[in-house]
Amino acid sequence: MNQVIDLLKNHRSIRKFKPELISTEKVHAIIEAATWASTSNFIQAYTVIRVENKKTRKKIADLAGPQPWVETSPLFLVFCADLNKAQEACHYENKGMVSGYTEQFIISTVDVALAAQNAMIAAESLGLGGVYIGGIRNDPQTVCNLLKIPEHVYPVFGMCLGYPDEKQEQKPRLPVHVVLNEEYYHKDNIDLEKYNQTCKDYYQNRSSSSREETWTHQISDMVTKPARPHMKAFLKKRGFEFK
Ligand SMILES: Cc1cc2nc3c(=O)[nH]c(=O)nc-3n(C[C@H](O)[C@H](O)[C@H](O)COP(=O)(O)O)c2cc1C
Repeated sequence: MNQVIDLLKNHRSIRKFKPELISTEKVHAIIEAATWASTSNFIQAYTVIRVENKKTRKKIADLAGPQPWVETSPLFLVFCADLNKAQEACHYENKGMVSGYTEQFIISTVDVALAAQNAMIAAESLGLGGVYIGGIRNDPQTVCNLLKIPEHVYPVFGMCLGYPDEKQEQKPRLPVHVVLNEEYYHKDNIDLEKYNQTCKDYYQNRSSSSREETWTHQISDMVTKPARPHMKAFLKKRGFEFK
């Protein structure tokens, strides 16, 4: 349809990178693109931390899985939801921030996700590839300690970027008619049998780590286990309560 849509539809996560570094000019272009994402009420509630230190990278790679690509990617960024800047604005205006609202948590988490996706797309447009690293939330307190992340800020995910050194097939997505519901929510409009078969074919035929897998098996496995139960207490400690 056009080049932007073609680029978006060409996405796949990349976990193996050439050693070639990304120029400072490109890194800045990627982060600048991130800052142009829409932002709730103009708050811009995010900070991106670039991590170069090898020991820090190793520690984060280990706690995230281990996920070796956190150590080996030419660029590793940690995207943080950040209400600290809003607090600084309050100090400047001699006002006290009323913190701990669920809505503030949503605003900052959505903001950082939108900015990050802009960064991913910008990177892909420059011939780079990458992968998000939610695995940093396995031990978010250690990530905060390592990166000196203050109160009212939390690391949401990391992102590895670099020049791709692998050819990944694309993971098939749900069809548009399942995602786009006309007029009201359409329950049970997904043909699970068909989508399972599509995903099974993908997993069987992909060139790296081929396996027997279906979508319902994968997702049901995921949502029938506790999901990082430490997150609630961690967020409360950071100043993100759920009022
Ligand atoms: C917020 C978020 C966190 C993710 N965390 C990880 C991760 O820790 N490790 C990883 O290898 N992939 C991670 N991924 C990548 C997803 O597994 C991947 O996007 C998904 O399987 C679809 O594959 P694709 O990106 O190749 O299309 C994450 C993706 C998102 C959006």
